[in-house]
Amino acid sequence: MKQVFGVFGDPVGHSLSPAMHSAAFSALSMDCIYHAFRVRPEKLGKAILGAEAMGFGGLNLTVPLKEEALKLDFIKPDPLAKRIGAINTVVFEKSGIQGYNTDGLGARQALLDSAVEIGGSRIVVAGAGGAARAVTFQLAADGADITVINRTEERAIELAKEISAAALPGKVSGTGLSGLKELLRDADVLINTTTLGMHPNTDTTIATAEELYSDLTVFDIVYNPLETRLLKEAKAAGAKTISGVLMLVYQGAEAFRLWTGVEPPVELMKKTVLEALQ
Ligand code: ATR
Repeated sequence: MKQVFGVFGDPVGHSLSPAMHSAAFSALSMDCIYHAFRVRPEKLGKAILGAEAMGFGGLNLTVPLKEEALKLDFIKPDPLAKRIGAINTVVFEKSGIQGYNTDGLGARQALLDSAVEIGGSRIVVAGAGGAARAVTFQLAADGADITVINRTEERAIELAKEISAAALPGKVSGTGLSGLKELLRDADVLINTTTLGMHPNTDTTIATAEELYSDLTVFDIVYNPLETRLLKEAKAAGAKTISGVLMLVYQGAEAFRLWTGVEPPVELMKKTVLEALQ
C-alpha cells in the first residue's frame, strides 16, 4: 500500500512541496504519495494525530502552522526547532512524534553550494521575522558573525539578544535599516529574509546596486519571482547571487532524509521547482 506524506498549511494551494517530493519519490521508485492538506490552526493537533493514526510517512508544516506546532505537547521538538520557535517537519517515530526545523539547514546548504565558508563569515541578515529566526539561529550555530538589520529596530535587537543568550559559536548583533550601506562594506554576505521583492511587490528591494559591493554574495530567500529586484541589483553591482529556490529545495531535501533515511535526488527536485515557477 502506498505511504502518504503531506504538507499542512492554510492556505496551502500554492505550495511547491507536492511537486518536489512527488518527483523525488517517483525517481526513486518509492511507493509513496505527497499531498497538500488545508488544515486550520485550531485543528492542527487533531490533524497530526490523525495522520499518525493513518500511518502517514511524515509531514511538512507551512504558514501559519509552524509556530502553532510547538504548542502541541505530544510533539517533541529538537533543540534547534525549539530555539527557532517553529516546526516545519514532523517525523513519526516509534518513540513518538518528533518536530524539526529544516529551513535554516536549507539556507546553510545554499550558501555552502556557493562556496561560502560560514564559520567566521560576516553575514548581514535583513529581517527579523520567522524566516530570519531559522536562518540566524542556524548560521550562528555554524559560527557566522551576524548583524540582523530590520525596519523595526527593536525586533532586530531582540532577536540578536535571544541568539546571544543561546551561547552559540557565532556573534550576533541587531540594528535598524539606516546603516545598511556601511555595514555591507565590511560584510561577506547579505541575506534577505524580508518580504520585500516578493510577488506582487516585485519592485521593492532591501538594497539597490549603489548600496551593494562586487565582493558581496547576495542571497535572497524570496523565490517568487525567481529573479527578485534585489538579485538584479546585486548583479548590476557585480556581486555573486544565490536564489531562494535553493533554500526551498534544500529544506525539502533535509525533510526527505529525516522521513526516509534515503538520499533525495536534489537536482531533480530543483529542476521540478524551477519548472513549476517558470
Ligand atoms: P516571515 O515569518 O516570513 O519572516 P514576518 O514575520 O512577517 O515574515 O517578517 C517579515 C519581515 O519583513 C520583517 O522583518 C519585516 O520588518 P518589520 O519587523 O519592521 O515589520 C520585514 N518587512 C516587511 N515589509 C517591509 C518593508 N516594506 N520594508 C522593510 N522591511 C519590511
